[in-house]
Amino acid sequence: MSPDQLILEFDRALRTVLAPARSIRSTPGEMLPEADLDTEQKRHVVGLMRVNHCGEICAQALYQGQALTSRDPKIREALRGAADEETEHLAWTEQRITELGGRKSLLNPLLYLGSLSLGLAAGALGDKWNLGFLAETERQVEAHLDGHLLNLPVDDGRSRAIVDQMRLDEIQHAETAIQYGAAELPVPIKVAMKMAAKVMTGTAYRI
Ligand SMILES: [Fe+2]
Ligand SMILES: [Fe+2]
Repeated sequence: MSPDQLILEFDRALRTVLAPARSIRSTPGEMLPEADLDTEQKRHVVGLMRVNHCGEICAQALYQGQALTSRDPKIREALRGAADEETEHLAWTEQRITELGGRKSLLNPLLYLGSLSLGLAAGALGDKWNLGFLAETERQVEAHLDGHLLNLPVDDGRSRAIVDQMRLDEIQHAETAIQYGAAELPVPIKVAMKMAAKVMTGTAYRI
């Protein structure tokens, strides 16, 4: 990697963790009225959206790791669209947390670094494993968002619309990774990823 690229990526990392993300698409559900949530419901929705925001911080790091290590410019280019959508997800979840008077997870910088290390490690194994790791991550995120759709208050249309659109995007991201040659990860790795995600989501829900 050239020194210029290193500086660019470092700048991107700092912005991901510290600055508000921007979205080109409008936020899903922004025309819907705010639901009349009680204090407990609000606390719950903030917890769920904080988990999602945290997951999107990790997605930024994974895609950044992918871009830094991928050997094939075609793959890098193809995944740039997915990475841009992850930035939008980051913006939408942050916006929703703010609307509900909540705050982002304190774990974000730590998880960003952890995910970047994982992304770089997967990248070092070569494109097919790197893509396999991305595809499996996206699949697990999709399953996780399915769970959130069951868990969010039925009348909280604004949160539900965001999660709905993110879910559709994540399905597409997994498809893209598979289309470009993602390898199927060994089952123990998938299980380890699920367990790590469970610890991460359980903690981010609270802090
Ligand atoms: Fe996402
Ligand atoms: Fe994604």
